[in-house]
Amino acid sequence: MRFLKKGDDKKPKSEAGEATKAHPDLKVISGSQISGQRPQQPTQPQQQPQQNITLPNIKYKIAVASGKGGVGKSTVATNLAISLANAGGAVGLMDADAYGPSIPTMMGVQEQPKVSPARKLIPLVRHDIKLMSIGFMVPEEQAMIWRGPMLHSSIRQLLSDVEWGELDYLIIDLPPGTGDVALSLTQAIPLTGALIVTTPQDVALADVRRGVAMFERLGVPILGIIENMSYFLCPHCNEKTEIFRKDGGKNTSERFGVAFLGQIPLDAEVCTAGDLGVPIVAGHPESPQSEAFGAVAQELETVLEETGDEDELRIL
Ligand SMILES: Nc1ncnc2c1ncn2[C@@H]1O[C@H](COP(=O)(O)OP(=O)(O)O)[C@@H](O)[C@H]1O
Ligand SMILES: [Mg+2]
Repeated sequence: MRFLKKGDDKKPKSEAGEATKAHPDLKVISGSQISGQRPQQPTQPQQQPQQNITLPNIKYKIAVASGKGGVGKSTVATNLAISLANAGGAVGLMDADAYGPSIPTMMGVQEQPKVSPARKLIPLVRHDIKLMSIGFMVPEEQAMIWRGPMLHSSIRQLLSDVEWGELDYLIIDLPPGTGDVALSLTQAIPLTGALIVTTPQDVALADVRRGVAMFERLGVPILGIIENMSYFLCPHCNEKTEIFRKDGGKNTSERFGVAFLGQIPLDAEVCTAGDLGVPIVAGHPESPQSEAFGAVAQELETVLEETGDEDELRIL
C-alpha cells in the first residue's frame, strides 16, 4: 500500500470505489490487491536490518507489544502516551496495528489527515498527542489483510511520510503476536526498545516469553513489562481483588531480568473510556486508574534515564 504518491500531480483514483472515504492524495488498497491469507510469521533471525529511517528529532521510539491480542496493548499505549504528555513530554502515537487499528476509536478521532506542502501526512492531534493510523486512511469496513510487501511499505510510510516533528516519545502500538509488523518496524527504524503488555495468567505469560524471544532475535531491548488487568479495584471500598493469578507479570519480569513497570487494574471505566474516545487518563486524570498509568509512565522515564545511552539497555 502506498499512502502518498510522491512527485505525482495526478490524484490516484480510489480503487476501492467511490463509496469509500479514500483521501484524494492517498491510495487505498482494494480487494484485488489483498491476499486471502495473513502474512507468514518471520522464521529467520534478522541479521542486518536496513534501518534507513532515522527520525533524529524523536528521542525515544518505543514499541508496545504483546504475545497475544486483547491484553490491553492499545489501552496501555493510549493512556501511557497521555501520561507521558501530562508529565511534560512531547508525544506521538503511531498505530501500527494494520490488521485492526483501534487508536482512532480509542482517541476519539476519525478524520483524514491533511497533506503538507512537502507532501507529508500531518498527524491529527487529540488529547495533546500527535496521532497517525492506517485507520485514518482505510475505510473501516475494508478488509485489513495485507500482502507482506504492502504491509512493509505502509509501516515505513507511517514513519517517514508523516510530519512527526520534534518528539520526546513516539509510542508505537503493534498488532498482537510476533509477526510481520514488528519485523518491518525493526527493519525501518532503530527502536529504543519494546514494552511488553501482559495479563497475570499463565497462558498470557507464555505469550510474553514468545514476545520477548522475538525482540531478542530482532535485537530490540526490552524496556519493561506492564501487567494489565492485574486486579479489580472496588469503586465503593477501594479493596483490591486479584481476579487472575497474582503477580504473574512481576514474576516473569524477574525471571527475565527486565524491569517491571507496574500494574493496571481491571476496571469498567478503563474500558468505557476507550470505547468513548476519551482515555481514562484524559477524562479522569485524578482517578486511581489514571494514577496507575502515571506510575507506569514514571517507571518508564526512570528506565530510560537510568540507561541513558540506548546501547546500554539490556538486550535479552
Ligand atoms: N485495565 C482494563 N480494564 C478494563 N478493560 C480493559 C482494560 N484494558 C483493556 N481493556 C479492554 O479490553 C479490550 C481489549 O483491549 P485492547 O487495548 O484493545 O487490547 P489489545 O490492543 O491488546 O488487543 C478493550 O475492550 C479494552 O477496553
Ligand atoms: Mg490493539
